[in-house]
Amino acid sequence: MELSTRIDKAMTAAIAQAQGAAGNPDAVPGRLAAALNYAVTPGGARIRPTICLSVALACGDDRPDLAERAAVALELIHCASLVHDDLPAFDNASFRRGKPTIHLAFSEPLAVLTGDSLIIAGFDLLGGAAPADALRALRLVQLLARHTGMPHGICAGQAWESEPRVDLRAYHRAKTAALFVAATQMGALAAGHEPDPWEELGARIGEAFQVADDLRDALYDENTLGKPVGQDVAYARPSAVEELGVQGAVKRLHDILGGAIASIPSCPGEARLAQLVRVYAERMTPVAPVRA
Ligand code: IPE
Ligand code: IPE
Ligand code: MG
Ligand code: MG
Repeated sequence: MELSTRIDKAMTAAIAQAQGAAGNPDAVPGRLAAALNYAVTPGGARIRPTICLSVALACGDDRPDLAERAAVALELIHCASLVHDDLPAFDNASFRRGKPTIHLAFSEPLAVLTGDSLIIAGFDLLGGAAPADALRALRLVQLLARHTGMPHGICAGQAWESEPRVDLRAYHRAKTAALFVAATQMGALAAGHEPDPWEELGARIGEAFQVADDLRDALYDENTLGKPVGQDVAYARPSAVEELGVQGAVKRLHDILGGAIASIPSCPGEARLAQLVRVYAERMTPVAPVRA
């Protein structure tokens, strides 16, 4: 089965489970159930679960059900982080993936609850692993928690925006790279490999990804991205473009990605994974600016 099909099917099943409407739809709050689906469809690039499953495959994928649970848990947390990120208390964004953000399409309370429910659904998914996978599942829960919360996960990353002084690399590492480190480490762990050697690859892809996002925020238009642009300047957010300029940020992107392939740990599917990283590196590099 194609990776994207595996991810789609597992995401659909996870949302249906979180909606819980199978038996009696009147017994659950219908608007929150609808908002959960709205938050994950259409799905965006789904790069994190793709990386997670690709690493699991490269490591032998001996427990495919567990690897899928890990990949989907990650994507649910990512989608939750976007719902919360778009709230008026954070970026006050009107569009995400080309459609109105959840707090506008539903309401602010429902957007907060949608994010909360998606995070919990992610951990619930790992908790539902087969008894034979329990030890790996427990370690996956801890890895995911560490890359989601304080002191080094997404919560820490978003919290840097409330500090008077920000270290750009620490901010990017926690806000964005943490979930990419989770993707490589959880993929390896789900397939029975030790996660530590996979940290550098995830960190490099994640940091490059945020530099590329900063470049797109500065250079592209709203229609191209399906979300607001110019946000970093509008909210005086630290960004790679503000700190390094466009050329400097492109150079930083290339420098980070340059070492990514070399950092892939030795594993049965190393060559194929290297090819995937090459493709992502190419896709990440912004093409000619669309915005003047
Ligand atoms: C956007 O992530 C948020 C950042 C961390 C920069 P993605 O670009 O992966 O968003 P989707 O899931 O494809 O919409
Ligand atoms: C979002 O960061 C990263 C999260 C942890 C949610 P940004 O605010 O820079 O990303 P976009 O541009 O809204 O997707
Ligand atoms: Mg933000
Ligand atoms: Mg934002």
